[in-house]
Amino acid sequence: MEISVKSGNPQKQRSACVVVGVFEPRRLSAAAAQIDEASGGYLAALLRRGDMEGKPGQSLLLYNVPNTLADRVLLVGCGKEREFGLRQYRQAVAEATRVLNTGGAMEAVYYLTDLPLRGFDAAARVQQAAIAVREAVYRFDRLKSRKETDRRPLRKVVLTVPGRRELADGERAARMGSAIADGMDLARDLGNLPGNICTPTYLAEQALSLAESHDAVETEVLEREDMERLGMGALLSVSRGSRQPPKLIVSHYRGGGDQAPLVLVGKGLTFDAGGISLKPAADMDQMKYDMCGGAGVLGTLHAVATLELPVNVIGVVPSSENLPDGAANKPGDIVTSMSGQTIEILNTDAEGRLILCDALTYCERFQPAAVIDLATLTGACVVALGRHAHGLLGNHRALTHELLNAGQQAGDRAWELPLWEEYQEQLDSPFADMANIGGKEAGTITAACFLSRFTRKFRWAHLDIAGTAWLTGKEKGATGRPVPLLVQFIAQRADQGG
Ligand code: BES
Ligand code: MN
Ligand code: ZN
Repeated sequence: MEISVKSGNPQKQRSACVVVGVFEPRRLSAAAAQIDEASGGYLAALLRRGDMEGKPGQSLLLYNVPNTLADRVLLVGCGKEREFGLRQYRQAVAEATRVLNTGGAMEAVYYLTDLPLRGFDAAARVQQAAIAVREAVYRFDRLKSRKETDRRPLRKVVLTVPGRRELADGERAARMGSAIADGMDLARDLGNLPGNICTPTYLAEQALSLAESHDAVETEVLEREDMERLGMGALLSVSRGSRQPPKLIVSHYRGGGDQAPLVLVGKGLTFDAGGISLKPAADMDQMKYDMCGGAGVLGTLHAVATLELPVNVIGVVPSSENLPDGAANKPGDIVTSMSGQTIEILNTDAEGRLILCDALTYCERFQPAAVIDLATLTGACVVALGRHAHGLLGNHRALTHELLNAGQQAGDRAWELPLWEEYQEQLDSPFADMANIGGKEAGTITAACFLSRFTRKFRWAHLDIAGTAWLTGKEKGATGRPVPLLVQFIAQRADQGG
């Protein structure tokens, strides 16, 4: 999909389609009003006759609108103007894209980017629209032998900005949105691939091919023997229950000279059956998504490298399966982590923190500016926040705020939970330095408490993406989150000189 930016009057666009918004009840947006005026009240008359109320999800395709140069005009419902927010905006863009993708027009000029959206300037609206367009056309059908193809798919989208003065920022925003969408597509594809294909080895191969496609990316993969040498007893203990060899993927993006790097650590558990603490059968297939943290790291690196941002970012993805087996972890086992701290494994299904803790200790060698981990870590996070916000916890106030802010700007929001020391004692073990679970209460927080014991040497934040990394039901599939939040965060840091 080619996405570009321009300015100018809607009635003067020579295009297969011009897309404009209509608010409820039957109120023309500014661009729609311009077309209405040029056409001698054609749109207003149509609305009066009741063909289009302007409700969200509604659309109306018009042909041969008088005095316009485009073949078609697509009216898209935006809901009540008072209630119009980012969500409604993205919905309108997505609806337009769906209609166009299945219709005859293969290119279109969207005036939806002109709609007023509080907190989002013209460039930010372009970025959001670019992402929404790409999300709307995303499909994962590579494993279907018969693919549904659109006869005349949408190929080219032009997003408008108010005037020439906004063109340069708009173009940068379109590039940013497209790069974020590329990163999300990669993360979504990896997430949607099943566990028999997307194994730790496969993930490592993907990280290697990322390095092939970007000069500034270099990938190194640590094997079991390397982990043994490093003393990664926690990570290795999880992989003992699997026939797939574990991998520790380390990808460097070098764009920031000798600046201290930002390190992203992603949980890459390619299938989580729970181990000996076996999960129930219902919905267990969804545990193929337990590598979405790792996929998010690779997706973010892909976007950052595409944008050639002047920063250093290192992606670290510990990858393993968690299966029951004769050699698997057993409840009560005690393992020694790379940090030297011992862990009593009371539940083998709390494996994410076991692979992450050694990866986090490994990060110390990079003397990072900050470390952010992303992990589908706890079912409790889905209970607490549902599918809309990432859980966010960390040991550094300014970093946490920066992330909350980036999430807001990117439309990929996180919500902070407390990481108070009072919660730490839930991890006490009579036999080891800590247990790997903290009981029924505050499961997301105690999981973060566990990780906090391995992040004392640097600024750190943790994103629990258990609720946000994929959707269930009729929209089932990986979301590509939190790639938008992370790319936004990194781009903002780049703007401030790292
Ligand atoms: N990958 C799961 C977390 C998860 C569960 C994410 C459901 C999304 C949906 C993680 O490895 C896990 O099993 N966590 C346990 C921890 C518990 C044993 C303390 C959980 O949340 O039940
Ligand atoms: Mn688990
Ligand atoms: Zn898991």
